[in-house]
Amino acid sequence: MSSKKRRPVIAGNWKMNMTPSEAKAFVSELYEKVKGKRGCDIVVCVPAIDIPAVTKVLSGTSIKVGAQNVHFKASGAYTGEISANMLVDAGVKYVVIGHSERRQYFGETDETVNLRTKAALDAGLCAIVCIGETLDEREKGITSEVVSRQLKLALIDIDAEQMKNVIIAYEPVWAIGTGKTATSEQANEVCAIIRKVIGEKYGKAVAKAAIIQYGGSMNAANAAELLAMPDIDGGLIGGASLKADAFSVIVDAAQ
Ligand code: PGA
Repeated sequence: MSSKKRRPVIAGNWKMNMTPSEAKAFVSELYEKVKGKRGCDIVVCVPAIDIPAVTKVLSGTSIKVGAQNVHFKASGAYTGEISANMLVDAGVKYVVIGHSERRQYFGETDETVNLRTKAALDAGLCAIVCIGETLDEREKGITSEVVSRQLKLALIDIDAEQMKNVIIAYEPVWAIGTGKTATSEQANEVCAIIRKVIGEKYGKAVAKAAIIQYGGSMNAANAAELLAMPDIDGGLIGGASLKADAFSVIVDAAQ
């Protein structure tokens, strides 16, 4: 399956970095570097408190704004949480769901990932659903089983039409923030498995159209090779998304 048929999505995941003032200055700089690069979709997934400042600067530009989490209830007594409709009203188009840091530190489970994904899709957001194996799981040779299971559980009760707004981010946990990137072959192999599982559930056309990103120490030096792989349709980028130059080189690699 050729990646040329799919438009890459390059998404920055800022994690817990940048105050609103820093975010405002950063996206102005980033916009200057990437404007006119129309060969991929560009997204910045920012801390919730940065959303107003960032959407204001990026309004009318081709850079879309994403959040890093969403609650699955529409409203109510969930102190500290943010609903999908709140994100939409604030101008957010994408949301990262089930990042391994949320699974590791904040009690995120396959079940809550599924609930959040459904809530995001119902509100009209595009969901970037993160899955990936730990080092221990890779060494035990169960990467395929782990990733397939996470994927199937995340997609319960999500139909083929809704899949148009789902991006799967394959992020091997051992490669996140460690500087250890999966080789392009390793990354592509798992992205191909993900596409196969999507095909088994939704059919060939949905699988062929599905956007599958790689994430985990993607940077200016390795992006071109990773993005050239047939089943990798973009990146979810942490550390390198905090530097306008590096992020812009990754955007170039996706053109
Ligand atoms: P990294 O993070 O690029 O810093 O490894 C990727 C991610 O966690 O989405």
